Amino acid sequence: MQQRETIIVLDFGGQYNQLIARRVRECGVYCEIYSYRTPLETIRAKNPRGIILTGGPNSVYDPASATCTADLFAMGVPVLGICYGSQLMMHLLGGRVERAPEREYGKTEVYVDTESLLFQEVNPTTICWMSHNDYISQAAPGFKVIAHTDHCPVAAVEAPDKGLYAVQFHPEVLHTQQGSLMLSNFVYKVCGCAGDWKMDSFVEQSIQNIRAKVGNGKVLCALSGGVDSSVAAVMLAKAVGRQLTCVFVDHGLLRKDEGDQVEAVFGPEGPYDLNFIRVNAQQRFYDKLAGQDDPETKRKIIGEEFIRVFEEEAKKIGRVDYLVQGTIYPDVVESGLGGESAVIKSHHNVGGLPDYVDFKEIIEPLRDLFKDEVRAAGRELGLPEALVARQPFPGPGLAVRIIGAVTPEKVRMVQEADAIFREEMANFGLANAASQYFAALTNMRSVGVMGDERTYDYAVALRAVSTSDFMTAESVQLPWELLGKVTSRIVNEVPHVNRVLYDCTGKPPATIEFE
Ligand code: XMP
Repeated sequence: MQQRETIIVLDFGGQYNQLIARRVRECGVYCEIYSYRTPLETIRAKNPRGIILTGGPNSVYDPASATCTADLFAMGVPVLGICYGSQLMMHLLGGRVERAPEREYGKTEVYVDTESLLFQEVNPTTICWMSHNDYISQAAPGFKVIAHTDHCPVAAVEAPDKGLYAVQFHPEVLHTQQGSLMLSNFVYKVCGCAGDWKMDSFVEQSIQNIRAKVGNGKVLCALSGGVDSSVAAVMLAKAVGRQLTCVFVDHGLLRKDEGDQVEAVFGPEGPYDLNFIRVNAQQRFYDKLAGQDDPETKRKIIGEEFIRVFEEEAKKIGRVDYLVQGTIYPDVVESGLGGESAVIKSHHNVGGLPDYVDFKEIIEPLRDLFKDEVRAAGRELGLPEALVARQPFPGPGLAVRIIGAVTPEKVRMVQEADAIFREEMANFGLANAASQYFAALTNMRSVGVMGDERTYDYAVALRAVSTSDFMTAESVQLPWELLGKVTSRIVNEVPHVNRVLYDCTGKPPATIEFE
């Protein structure tokens, strides 16, 4: 098999490491992230077409800062330094970096030399995103200055004969209006890539690889109905058909009708040829959760019961050769295997499964993909849009959207309220106006009046947030008219709800989910 063209992002701890890789891939070139600590030999062995150095929180003149060897610039592989990466390149090659008299932060007009390959077809004056305390006061010998701002004499440099480029601003963020064009110029015009990263060929190739690997082995997949496990399952189904068994555990904490929707796609009436097992374990979960009101205890109970149910099903199937997991690239990077900025993940949908199933090897067909690429692969595989574009949904499901103890009645209340909210968001043309939105059931009961009757019933909270990474989020300003419509429908249609509240809190200080 021909080697895939690869650009390597060397991560110096910048907050945009994944964004750089995503932007490069959007240009049609495959890109992977590695820590700056990665030995040069390892990088060389990957035969990259180009290397991008990320930003980072340090100052190059601090001896404790993240650094790399200057040999990196002499490998004959083009390098683009971004922000800290640009300063590091200048510092290591004999330029000068100093603390700037004034911090430059925000959207800034940059004057670029459009003769440079990096800036071809870029406007001579273009808006870029700046965020730096240090600045390059003198370019390294052999480098030409190709951009400046009113405050920053060296906003970009090049040594085209060596394939070295550096920019002080962040081309990867959307605030840099022509940033994608600059990255595209780097990968195509400087690195000479052809652009072989396409979802249709990725899907095709993956199916062939899986088929070759699995042979006539047996494969087991825990299907949650979420985007990742669904796309992974379909890819496996296309590769090995009935050698695949998907187990879908309905824990009774899914959104309204969701279990049936999953069954409609993956079950015997659906378009795919696979073995589908739906386990209706609702009552088991409700029994275990009865009277439990501590959020972490609820999560733990659900996680453990999930494993138990899955294990029972797996035992019925007997020994399998492969277990499928829907791991995606950000999981790989964030678990510290890829880049530098490790994030500690507390949630795992099917945590610990491998310990409970007798299998030979794990297959992770989406391991190289970002979330938007997983969705694109899903579309390529013909999955319905509702499934592919699905919002994130927590593994413990509605249990973390019901404050306090879970009862089947409360599950029904939150399911109904949530379905109304989603339906009205769609009716108002706002189905995609927030990254995640849902109804939650507060544990608060309060006095109300219905007809001539006094009521003492529950309050439903509506939440809609916008976020790019789910680590921070803002509450979305929804039209009052929509909120009014949803409120009146919920109090009229959902028994025992007499108040509807809208959550205006961002994250931090609140989290997205209520528990
Ligand atoms: P929080 O509530 O932590 O949510 O702001 C951030 C994102 O993670 C999802 N979430 C979970 N996902 N298991 C999951 O699989 C969980 O226990 C869990 N808790 C929160 C949440 O929906 C949001 O997208």
